Amino acid sequence: MEKGVLLTGGAGFIGSHVAVALINAGYRVYIVDNYANSSPDVLDRIERITGTPVYCTKMDVTDRVSLRNLFRCVSIESVIHLAGFKAVGESVADPLKYYRNNLEATMMLLDVMLEHGVKKLIFSSSATVYGSPEVVPIPETARTGCTNPYGWTKLMSEQMILDVCTAHPDFSAILLRYFNPVGAHPSGLIGESPSQPPTNLFPYICSVAAGEKDKLLIFGNDYPTPDGTGIRDYIHIEDLAAGHVSAMQYALEHTGSEIINLGAGQGYSVLDVIHTFERVNNVHVPYEIASRRPGDVAVCCAAPDKAERLLHWKAARSLPDMCRDAWRWTMTRTR
Ligand code: UFG
Repeated sequence: MEKGVLLTGGAGFIGSHVAVALINAGYRVYIVDNYANSSPDVLDRIERITGTPVYCTKMDVTDRVSLRNLFRCVSIESVIHLAGFKAVGESVADPLKYYRNNLEATMMLLDVMLEHGVKKLIFSSSATVYGSPEVVPIPETARTGCTNPYGWTKLMSEQMILDVCTAHPDFSAILLRYFNPVGAHPSGLIGESPSQPPTNLFPYICSVAAGEKDKLLIFGNDYPTPDGTGIRDYIHIEDLAAGHVSAMQYALEHTGSEIINLGAGQGYSVLDVIHTFERVNNVHVPYEIASRRPGDVAVCCAAPDKAERLLHWKAARSLPDMCRDAWRWTMTRTR
């Protein structure tokens, strides 16, 4: 039986792009998803893009019986674990929902992987584990500490995985700390379609440009940045997906653990994003300055050199690419 990659959360925004990248790189991909923040419609679209049938099971990763069955039925060599709740605000309002789901999923997966001798794991972590960074660009060695329960579930999951690597020296884990993934597949067939109203900058700008919302609120123009608005390291989702393929290759060839930033290493302000979006898409994005959003930091940018050194991976797509692809997907989604 051909060995494959188990992709948890594979129907989501990041997962669907990672699935396409893995399939295009020749991997056999087994998706599991409970569709909590995604829809099975995406599977047809992955098939259309790749020309390959997609294997997907509706499953909650916290369901030990189903997970074990899957590991028995298909041959899994490695796992990419993306499944989890990710809304920062909701995690503050309902922390136990986040701790229960996200930590239980990581623990269950590690348990069943060890039971079945599967020792290669890529984990979806986040730059949110750096909290309020002391140095920018942020290296992987920077101090960690979170400002919300969602972030803590990422950091605690990282720790669980690192401890498993210590206990099992033949285990291999790559913890990928994503910066701000945005954009969409250039086909316009897959992209971000959250089940909740948008709160992140890119989906919000798209909603405003599409006329679904009146205006964007810019959360603060009094930060110590050149134009006063917050600066982030936006990374095109296609680059992020390619980073997973490189990480998978690395994990298959090595043992031990590595923490790696996936970011472009280049920061853009909220106003930079709005102006670029308007220019490349020839649309208008009305905005208004509002007060700062609690928990936001002025600048968050990756030091991306470890990814380049270890994975031979580097973000290649520009801010205009991100804006064009996000808008193309919005027009498909709202048609
Ligand atoms: N912003 C606005 N108006 C909006 C939305 C966002 O001005 O309506 C601003 C924010 O203040 C910030 C920037 O746009 O300066 C980016 O905000 P996002 O909400 O898009 O992204 P964040 O950097 O706050 O957070 C994202 C993810 C988190 C992840 C974090 C990692 O949402 O899940 O990056 O750094 F943890």
